[in-house]
Amino acid sequence: MKNVASIWESLQNKVDRMIEQIGDKSPHFAPPDTGVYDDMRLDWWTAGFWPGILWIMYDMTGKKRYKEAAWEWDIKIERKSLEDNNFHHDVGFQYLPTAVIKYKLTGDQDGRRRGLSAANFLAGRFNLAGGFLRAWNQEKTGWSIIDTAMNLSILFWAAGESGDPRFAHIGKAHADTIVKHFIRGDGSVRHIVCFDLGTGEVVETRGGQGAGPDSAWSRGTAWALHGLANTYRYTGDQSYLEASQRVAHYFLAMLPEDYVAHWDFRAAETLEGEPRDTSAAACAASGLLELSAALPAAQGRAYREATGRILQSLTENYGTLDRPKHEAILLSGTGNKPAGSNVNVSLIYGDYFYIEAIAKLNGWKHRIF
Ligand code: GLY
Repeated sequence: MKNVASIWESLQNKVDRMIEQIGDKSPHFAPPDTGVYDDMRLDWWTAGFWPGILWIMYDMTGKKRYKEAAWEWDIKIERKSLEDNNFHHDVGFQYLPTAVIKYKLTGDQDGRRRGLSAANFLAGRFNLAGGFLRAWNQEKTGWSIIDTAMNLSILFWAAGESGDPRFAHIGKAHADTIVKHFIRGDGSVRHIVCFDLGTGEVVETRGGQGAGPDSAWSRGTAWALHGLANTYRYTGDQSYLEASQRVAHYFLAMLPEDYVAHWDFRAAETLEGEPRDTSAAACAASGLLELSAALPAAQGRAYREATGRILQSLTENYGTLDRPKHEAILLSGTGNKPAGSNVNVSLIYGDYFYIEAIAKLNGWKHRIF
């Protein structure tokens, strides 16, 4: 990819402005006209992404202002966990880019404690009969979703940090379930699989944030691609690498001319006019770099080149680097099209994975997921 170093420079200026604009808000989405981020509740799954951006910036530059802006977030999220709340399997998304990376970069023992406590909470959602982690709360007791692929990293981190392999056993068992029940033969991915709580049998599959039970939600595809590549990095188990590659090949084959995914690869007969999802593109781009790093150079090159094409298009066609008043980095994300919410907006997780991928291309060595 051309200009990765200069894009990185522009991103620093952008994030410096975002620190002023965002202040104490927990950003989630921003409409395209105003470009002003909302302030979401702290138990929402996206609470970790803005601090994650700040910690990557701190790690890459050593500048104190990023550390100072990031410092309080795991404290605030933990405080929310002591009140009435709706935390669920997404504690990985919330604590890996806050408490865990804070501990890795600064040695903060409270960050370590919070990270281990989140891993315990996630491990406690494991259903032994079905070999899956329960996703959401309330009546959705047997529901498992592909997004959990990204949360597994907190279990593998906790296994290494605590010396207790049970966390990794659970992470691997869930990853095996993803490979068996979520990834179809052609590499497309289901969003929701519902299991019988007692027997562990599959009861039904659901469309969720995708167009339908047989569709191919692009962000879910990206969660599987990136999540299973991470799982391979932690476990060295070849089956996860192969599964991630299978998903990557499907994802890449389905891209339109400008390399930025539509919200669902099977939304309609023709995808002309269907909304894009830049967050899926950014997450997949970063996951492809994990695949590239996992393989011998000659094999990995194709994934790295694909990442370059996606990031180039995101920067040139969907970026806001030339719009200082816009608080986000990417336009044209799709949150939940079937629910009619957050279509054609900026999404903080799109911004996060874009920065994560650009940082990797600029030599970033630590990993959050
Ligand atoms: N984890 C929820 C989403 O991808 O929208």
